[in-house]
Amino acid sequence: MTDIAYVRYQQPDLDLAERFLHDFGMTTVSRVPGTLRMRTAHGYAQAYVAHQGPVSCFLSTGIVVDAAQWRDAASWPEAVRVDAEPRFPGDATLTVRDPDGYEYDLLATPEHAPPLPIAPPAGFNFGTYKTRCNAMRIAAPRPPAVLRLGHVALKVADVARSVEWYRRRFGLVVSDLIHDGDECNIVTAFLRCDLGGDFADHHVIALAQASPAAIHHASFEVQDLDEVAAGGQWLERCGYERLWGVGRHLLGGQIFDYWRDPWGNNLEHYTDGDVFNNEAQPGLHAQSADTLYQWGPPLPAHFGD
Ligand SMILES: [Fe+2]
Repeated sequence: MTDIAYVRYQQPDLDLAERFLHDFGMTTVSRVPGTLRMRTAHGYAQAYVAHQGPVSCFLSTGIVVDAAQWRDAASWPEAVRVDAEPRFPGDATLTVRDPDGYEYDLLATPEHAPPLPIAPPAGFNFGTYKTRCNAMRIAAPRPPAVLRLGHVALKVADVARSVEWYRRRFGLVVSDLIHDGDECNIVTAFLRCDLGGDFADHHVIALAQASPAAIHHASFEVQDLDEVAAGGQWLERCGYERLWGVGRHLLGGQIFDYWRDPWGNNLEHYTDGDVFNNEAQPGLHAQSADTLYQWGPPLPAHFGD
């Protein structure tokens, strides 16, 4: 696995889903009866797909693999859709299921979308290093330009079992592990794509020991802190519910802001995340709130629900 492309949900009201996703910072690709496709400013043809259905639920994650891995995966016992009919333009024709039942749509030739025009990164005037001179900083509340899908965070029954599966099947590597008590009792794992000497996000899939198995959040990258904060103020004005933010994670380092969609699914805006390559060593940390964030509002008691 070399990248993450999209998340797919079932939603009971596609009008409401589209309105929320616009306010969150995405752009409509297509809307046909029963299916809504949304994109980010950079990246693939779609980053979020919603199918009309009676209840809101998470369906699958689209991931990018190379052609050899695609052919290999088609023969795995975990393959549940092989050479299947596409469900929407650009859909994968192969789906595999992880040990907890999470489904991954494997894309060997993902469709890229031409980048949408976005404002160039604004300079930041550090105390000791000024990069914005004779220029104003404009950061009014507005839907932020979401650039790409960055990761999903999933609740799993057995983190150690899942880490092994994701290593063996998708080639993911460990960036950081969190243990509770005994160092063998791994309760959280942050896994990234192995791009060799090239840099990858600290995690593309995060796993936390919890039941029942359910997605905790899907996370989307924006340009900078102003996009996170001004975008958050826009969502607040629109009446959406903030789950937690703005703050900075420790493991992964992102500046984060978590929001609820109209049905209570968690979506994260982030910026300034860590990137690692094969020179980075995996980290092992004892479980505590400190492993989750360095600064920000107090961790809500219901954050992990
Ligand atoms: Fe996250």
